[in-house]
Amino acid sequence: MQTLTVGLAERSYPIHIGSGLLGHADLLLPHLPHKRAAVVTNTTVAPLYLESLRAMLQNHGVEIISIILPDGEEFKNAQTLGLIYDALLTHRSERNTPLIALGGGVIGDMTGYAAATYLRGVPFIQIPTTLLAQVDSSVGGKTGINHPLGKNMIGAFYQPQVVLADIATLNTLPDKELRAGIAEIIKYGLIRDLPFFQWLEQNMEKLLGRDTEALQYAITHSCLNKAEVVGADERECGERALLNLGHTFGHAIETGMGYGAWLHGEGVAAGTIMAADLSHRLGWISGKDVARIRLLFERAELPVVAPGLGTEKYLQLMGLDKKVVGGKMRFVLLNGIGNAVVKGDVPEDLLRQTLEVCVNQGIKHND
Ligand code: NAD
Ligand code: GLY
Repeated sequence: MQTLTVGLAERSYPIHIGSGLLGHADLLLPHLPHKRAAVVTNTTVAPLYLESLRAMLQNHGVEIISIILPDGEEFKNAQTLGLIYDALLTHRSERNTPLIALGGGVIGDMTGYAAATYLRGVPFIQIPTTLLAQVDSSVGGKTGINHPLGKNMIGAFYQPQVVLADIATLNTLPDKELRAGIAEIIKYGLIRDLPFFQWLEQNMEKLLGRDTEALQYAITHSCLNKAEVVGADERECGERALLNLGHTFGHAIETGMGYGAWLHGEGVAAGTIMAADLSHRLGWISGKDVARIRLLFERAELPVVAPGLGTEKYLQLMGLDKKVVGGKMRFVLLNGIGNAVVKGDVPEDLLRQTLEVCVNQGIKHND
């Protein structure tokens, strides 16, 4: 097991990463001093992991409330959030009772927001069970729900007390979901870690084959990068925005296609190719770099061509991005592999070119 720390002064917390951690009561018990917890999960994850978690905690005298939500991005909304509050109130859950998120990013984001708001804030624990949640969403305290008009538009920054990433839970994860997690892993290499990008180029097949050592390395390295960024800029006043590489385009894809049609990681993959293309049009990276980035996503069997929503629809959806300031869109772009920057005044004609080329026919850069 490896343990990292997200350094946020009195709100610092550990991320434990390893195989079989769900069986280690000692990692959770220090965070359950009142011997009560509410576990929030979904209809897919509950039959896989809820019973063993409950049995382990009950063996140590911890009383558990289980809240089982419908599964899917399309349920990451105010109505489903209401089901968490309903269950907590029905069970008279108190302020010192932690909420434990057991599942992927959808469960983690919704449970975190419920924890931030129920009784004005209760303790929160993350047990991520998807690769995407283990490398990204469980760390850093972004919580929230979708709105019909825009992704993750309602939410709060609310840090967990501990993150327990059990790599063994990935054994049951469908391949498509594993690949979606790899998209966020590639992101860290692209924005700030060229050696990690190169490691991914050398080890992609091992990751796709779920090699435990490769997964442990990739998850730990991703969390190290994320912990550093969040520790320096918790509320996204600066550097943290870089973690949104590909997300302005990706969120437009997710919202435009209807939540759940494209996985978050799939939208990030196609969106990152669009960000790379736009960076090339600005003269920041070479066509060879764009091709190199595209190849790595292709090897991860992720989509590299965005769906044809139409340029105007993309522009309208991207205008609702959380990075918009004073009505102006801002993009995370690449000034080299391993070096992302936020750019505010992107010429509209270049943006339109990217939207037309990447969406309609796919792109190839060989120059
Ligand atoms: P998800 O939560 O929908 O999980 C993917 C699927 O895998 C679901 O069907 C789920 O039930 C299933 N599943 C989960 N664990 C499993 C396991 N061990 N075995 C088998 N099936 C399992 O999707 P995700 O990719 O984990 O998360 C995507 C969400 O995370 C999006 O809503 C996105 O906006 C959010 N996100 C948040 C942050 C953040 O910083 N808070 C960062 C990135 C993404
Ligand atoms: N996933 C982006 C962030 O946590 O800031």
